[in-house]
Amino acid sequence: MTGAGIRSGVIGWPIEHSLSPRLHGFWLKRYGIDGSYERYSVPADELETFIWSLPERGFAGCNVTLPHKEQVLSYVDEVDDLARAVGAANTIIVRGGKLYATNTDIYGFAENIRPSITQTGHAVVLGAGGAAKGVCKALQDLGFAHITITNRTQGRAEQVAQALGGALHVAAWEEREAVLEGADLLVNTTSLGLAYGPKLELSLDNLPSEALVTDIVYNPLITPLLAQAKARGNPVVDGLGMLLHQAVPGFSAWFGVQPVVDAELRAHVLAGIA
Ligand code: ATR
Repeated sequence: MTGAGIRSGVIGWPIEHSLSPRLHGFWLKRYGIDGSYERYSVPADELETFIWSLPERGFAGCNVTLPHKEQVLSYVDEVDDLARAVGAANTIIVRGGKLYATNTDIYGFAENIRPSITQTGHAVVLGAGGAAKGVCKALQDLGFAHITITNRTQGRAEQVAQALGGALHVAAWEEREAVLEGADLLVNTTSLGLAYGPKLELSLDNLPSEALVTDIVYNPLITPLLAQAKARGNPVVDGLGMLLHQAVPGFSAWFGVQPVVDAELRAHVLAGIA
């Protein structure tokens, strides 16, 4: 493998800690593909030039991460329905010299929890930041009948509900424990629970013991919320699988091989988490 073949990578600012090169590098090696996937540190004022130059520089596409997921929509030829629905893209594909943007975080979140879902009645989503919109869209696509969003800043939750429409309801942050009653799924999309950050203060007393609990944070892998849920017997899904699954559609489009998410990949990526 020379790496001189198909080019791809991830662009962000900062980008040093991205696990995506480790993840795609594993698949490139596994499938014996002559391609590269590298980190590109791109500040906001260089984003447009970088994106437009992708085809002439031999890129099949790239991933886009923070803080460029929204801004990048302005610099492509076509935005698909998913990226448009959530107002953010994480994957760019070059097709016939044109740039096409999609959002695979929605797919990644859905695929990560799909095998563990037993009921699609009521889902509760904590947080209304950039990630929450994609999560709510995935929950709609998974068929949840009722989705409640609760966020410290209620106006942001209302914006998400308005943008996505459908059976999305907003509850006050003070009601976050009350709304757990009868829930089938609890998703944390807030930054609370990140390693070294502030903790999420939440009693799970009202949550049915069979409700699934998941966190989109994967560092730490078992967040305090997941540990708390596990201790009371709830099934839990950690956030690492979302990262692994979101990478599938991009890899497949750029390199022409549908990669498999399995235990070996997970162990390899996990070893890269400090
Ligand atoms: P992203 O766009 O990556 O999701 P974000 O926009 O910073 O990141 O969102 C972080 C989420 O964590 C938000 O829902 C935020 O709530 P606010 O909208 O009220 O800011 C939530 N969050 C962060 N710190 C919090 C805290 N101390 N208590 C409650 N929620 C918090």
